[in-house]
Amino acid sequence: MKNICAMSGSLRTGSSNHTILRYLSELMPAGINYVIYDGLANIPAFDPGLDNDDPPPPVSDLRDKIAKSDAIVICTPEYAFGVPGALKNALDWTVSSGSLSGKPLALITASTSGQYAHEGMIKTLGALDAQFNDETTLLIPFIRTKIDAEGNINDEIAGKLRDILKALLSSL
Ligand SMILES: Cc1cc2nc3c(=O)[nH]c(=O)nc-3n(C[C@H](O)[C@H](O)[C@H](O)COP(=O)(O)O)c2cc1C
Repeated sequence: MKNICAMSGSLRTGSSNHTILRYLSELMPAGINYVIYDGLANIPAFDPGLDNDDPPPPVSDLRDKIAKSDAIVICTPEYAFGVPGALKNALDWTVSSGSLSGKPLALITASTSGQYAHEGMIKTLGALDAQFNDETTLLIPFIRTKIDAEGNINDEIAGKLRDILKALLSSL
């Protein structure tokens, strides 16, 4: 059994990014335990003074979940031309722990535009030594036009999501 931890950069109820992560759960083959992390809102603001082996419990929980995962999926919107603060904050807590180092990772940026967040995430994840490539990164602009009110993802994006998942699974 392999474990995949998925994380959304949006905390919004009805989030398109959550919809994408739920769609991916439907595609998981047997033998994959896929869990969507729901603790992002509980992560305290990054404090280098508390960044040690005994950090605040929500941070330990996040580090544990990443450590126990064989791969990670991050799906995020862009806010104010950058990575959402809550997501970037969580990633900052993983710098010293090295939790993402060598970890196969798929990055999906699903936003109105998303280019700056996507580029920022690629830089940050590179610094964290996560393992990703062109096949496991996907920028989906105009996301709200690609998911209908019932949460159905259009065929083009569904196909791209199947491809990115296939690429991620092939690295396990
Ligand atoms: C405060 C705020 C700032 C935003 N800034 C951007 C932005 O800079 N670039 C962008 O592509 N979308 C921006 N958006 C739009 C989001 O991409 C859009 O709301 C997206 O659907 C959010 O993802 P979600 O549906 O998963 O919550 C912004 C939205 C909010 C609420």
